[in-house]
Amino acid sequence: MNTQKQYFTTPIYYVNAKPHLGHAYTSICADVATRFKQMDNHDTFFLTGTDEHGDKIVQAAKARQTTPKEYADIISKLFQDLLPVLNIKNNRFIRTTDPNHIQVVKKVLSKIYESGDIYFSSYEGLYCFGCERFYQERELVDGKCPDHGTAPEIIKESNYFFKMSKYQEWLINHIKTNPDFIRPAQYKNEILSFLKEPLEDLCISRPKSRLTWGITLPFDEDYVTYVWFDALVNYISALEYPDGERFKKFWPTTRHFVAKDIIKPHGIYWPIMLKAAGIPIYNGLNVHGFWNVKGSKMSKSIGNVTDPVQVTAQYGVDSFRYFLMREMVFGLDANFTEETIVSRINSDLANDLGNVFSRILSMTHRYFNGEVKGLDLQIEQKKSLSLESDAKTAIDAFEQAMAVCEFHKGVGAVWQFISIMNKYIDTNEPWALAKDEANTPVLATVLYNLIEGLRVVSCLIYPIMPDTSYKMQKTLCMAKKENGFYTLEETASWGQIKPGTLVEKPGILFPRIDTDKIPPKETVAATKSFKPALKKEITIDDFAKIDLRTGTVVKAEKIEKSNKLLKLQVDLGAEVRQVIAGIAKDYTPEQIVGKQVIVVANLKEAKLMGELSQGMILAANNKKKLVLSGFDKKIVPGNQVK
Ligand code: ME8
Ligand code: MG
Repeated sequence: MNTQKQYFTTPIYYVNAKPHLGHAYTSICADVATRFKQMDNHDTFFLTGTDEHGDKIVQAAKARQTTPKEYADIISKLFQDLLPVLNIKNNRFIRTTDPNHIQVVKKVLSKIYESGDIYFSSYEGLYCFGCERFYQERELVDGKCPDHGTAPEIIKESNYFFKMSKYQEWLINHIKTNPDFIRPAQYKNEILSFLKEPLEDLCISRPKSRLTWGITLPFDEDYVTYVWFDALVNYISALEYPDGERFKKFWPTTRHFVAKDIIKPHGIYWPIMLKAAGIPIYNGLNVHGFWNVKGSKMSKSIGNVTDPVQVTAQYGVDSFRYFLMREMVFGLDANFTEETIVSRINSDLANDLGNVFSRILSMTHRYFNGEVKGLDLQIEQKKSLSLESDAKTAIDAFEQAMAVCEFHKGVGAVWQFISIMNKYIDTNEPWALAKDEANTPVLATVLYNLIEGLRVVSCLIYPIMPDTSYKMQKTLCMAKKENGFYTLEETASWGQIKPGTLVEKPGILFPRIDTDKIPPKETVAATKSFKPALKKEITIDDFAKIDLRTGTVVKAEKIEKSNKLLKLQVDLGAEVRQVIAGIAKDYTPEQIVGKQVIVVANLKEAKLMGELSQGMILAANNKKKLVLSGFDKKIVPGNQVK
């Protein structure tokens, strides 16, 4: 058993919308970090989950005419189902509606209450219902909530408050004496500069008259606890705090992954809550930036989200994981575009890695019938043919970067080595050596070093691209590891591939994506008739690519300057989509609201008259009028139509 331990967490995601690329990124970071720590002989525990209480969930459930719990079940399942798609191996998935979690939240609240750090007081303030929080006047923009653009309401109510201010000096000191507590450093500085102002006490309750969908305070039946006091506790309830073995084993080694949107709750509320409850402070926080689309944060409320399931289906899980880890400098923002992912796949994966792999294995087959020949040490030394020290440099750089979650640098170190190997081939010209039998020992030495180099690459890419790592190792006839990976020590031990090994012929690791390819538009001639010709026959598999769903139109409005288009909000069960439909001549908004329709749900998003359209609804032409498709019985939204 490993003596070193490591606990990683992701935020627990709100179930007010389905997962997007931003959520996928954080979860993949935690998965990559976990797999890396395993290679570094750590026992690991990796937690993710969903945050299910609060007013936003009540609102979302209402819009779908369902209960908060039923609604949370649906969306939570989407987050759970995403994990295997992304090849994420978490140890636990926590939901804040889990009974055990609820008990632990109550326990923590009681502890803090008993220690005297929670008090009851009446408060009058400006409340934004959208944000579920009070605002200071100075935080408003033109008297309105900066997020929702609506004027907050004045509410007066009595609530429970947590004495955060009492711990402010302690926290500043804790951050300063533990330089790795918040990483990267710019976020540590952000928190420290925030702490220069006096901390306000945190309102931690909501009266049940206003919100019931939450955990009841253990010391007052009429109140539920505020979302953050519930959500943050998941990190310890998942380890069965206080008595669980896992809590004892893993809690001291915790590193939380979050994006910069939630550094305040994680960098300020959470350590102070732990301190006040007499629980040891977590070890550290890893903060990353935002995935942006055209300069603004990818977010459900803006409607510019990318579905990670679709990207994975299109490009493959390893390509997607690679792209995310390589493209974003951990801590800074990055832009997501389809072009950058395609260009990364073509240049880094198909070209650099794919080429080095197929060149080396093809040459081993061409010159030695697939047999790895032993090297000649004297020749190797005399001609400086060893790649061992380059491999060592790459492994060291990889290890240093990955240990502090600088994934882009870790990947960069491996690709630096790949580029050295490609140059090594060009310099040593195995094809020229093969022309003269006298050079066979030199050729064998060159290929041995290259095969060993491939072995090292296959081991190092494991955390990022586990499937590709295994594919390469299988081709190299390396022993299959029960847990799926070779440790860093094993990786670094040069000379693992034994002479005499027969390697397989290389398959294509990453096919190039042809950016100019335009799908052929073929049609067969019509038999006879004025109807449009039938399109070319398709297979059932072609048809299965179209994701048709049942939807209910919940809102409809005219689009100014267009007499053809209606802007619809269509409930698809897990989410409400905006669809721009060309039916305004045949349906008024009033006629269409409440209709159940068939939606093409995986159609690429498009803009029509400047409005985002996220799908299409099916209709047929009848005597120059459009008639909507529908169902002859009432049906729940979001179901597949087959
Ligand atoms: O905040 N770029 O949940 P949430 C990168 N329930 N990461 C992004 C992102 C983007 N554009 N958008 C979202 C909550 N994320 C609370 C957390 S924890 C005790 C409670 C990721 O659904 C990123 O990890 O709004 C961010 O911190 C998180 O999703 C916010 O998820
Ligand atoms: Mg959020």
